[in-house]
Amino acid sequence: MVDGTVGLGGHARLVLERIGPEGRLLGIDRDGAALEAARERLGPAALLRRGDFRDLATIASDAGFDRVDGVLLDLGVSSPQLDDPARGFSFRQDGPLDMRMDQRSPLTAERVVNALPERELARLIRGLGEERWAARIAEFVVRRRPLRTTRDLAAAVEAAVPRAAWPRDIHPATRTFQAVRMHVNDELGSLDLGLRGAVEILSEGGRLVVIAFHSLEDAAVKRFMATESRDCVCPPQQPVCTCGHRATLRILTRKPLRPTPDEVAANPRSRSARLRAAERT
Ligand SMILES: C[S@@+](CC[C@H](N)C(=O)[O-])C[C@H]1O[C@@H](n2cnc3c(N)ncnc32)[C@H](O)[C@@H]1O
Repeated sequence: MVDGTVGLGGHARLVLERIGPEGRLLGIDRDGAALEAARERLGPAALLRRGDFRDLATIASDAGFDRVDGVLLDLGVSSPQLDDPARGFSFRQDGPLDMRMDQRSPLTAERVVNALPERELARLIRGLGEERWAARIAEFVVRRRPLRTTRDLAAAVEAAVPRAAWPRDIHPATRTFQAVRMHVNDELGSLDLGLRGAVEILSEGGRLVVIAFHSLEDAAVKRFMATESRDCVCPPQQPVCTCGHRATLRILTRKPLRPTPDEVAANPRSRSARLRAAERT
């Protein structure tokens, strides 16, 4: 089985318990620090590789995992990434504008907010953050350049969004931070390729399980599973099928699974999680 987002190895540890000594687990993460933590927690029972799950099929086959019974993707950032101010993911603590999951990658949040033209920045914040104040936020960011810290970015957003329009349940900078982070890490691009890679290596009856934490991610997973569960993906007005597409997945969750109130109470960060699962045909 492949855990494409092994993080600190919480899921992986439970999977190892279930698959027993006969089972084999490959854990992948693009964060070097996470992988170190997973190594300590999981010991030699798991094979660990640093990489992006966009290369899932290649990483797996290089590690001797040509056919697998399960692929898990638990998307987004981990708690240690969020809680470490030095990683620059959080508007709650001051830190450098970094937001890279893979510390070797050249693109940082600082480069994005300081280098993109205002219109492109607005498009990014609107598209990836679903933020209606995107144009004004981009205008304020550009006016305040250079921005160096997470506090600088949060303050620009706070100044741009009129107080009366601040969301009630989240910090006003939440959506902007999400957008910049998703861009820095090309999260939707990785997801698309990772899902394809998973279908490639799953054996018949093998399962793909994806946990998403916001609507854009979940919509991408839902769309992918819907397309892959159909024999024909021609436009509906076309009388004869010409696409030759064959279903590769059978959806197991018509509606995504949500955490129970008890889970949310024990782990508040799970509150926006949506789990979708499908079986390889
Ligand atoms: C929500 S955490 C996973 C936590 C993990 N399931 C656990 O039990 O500890 C998400 C992890 O996925 C990693 N990640 C996110 N996108 C990735 C990608 N495209 N390729 C590899 N790892 C990725 C992050 O670095 C982070 O460690």
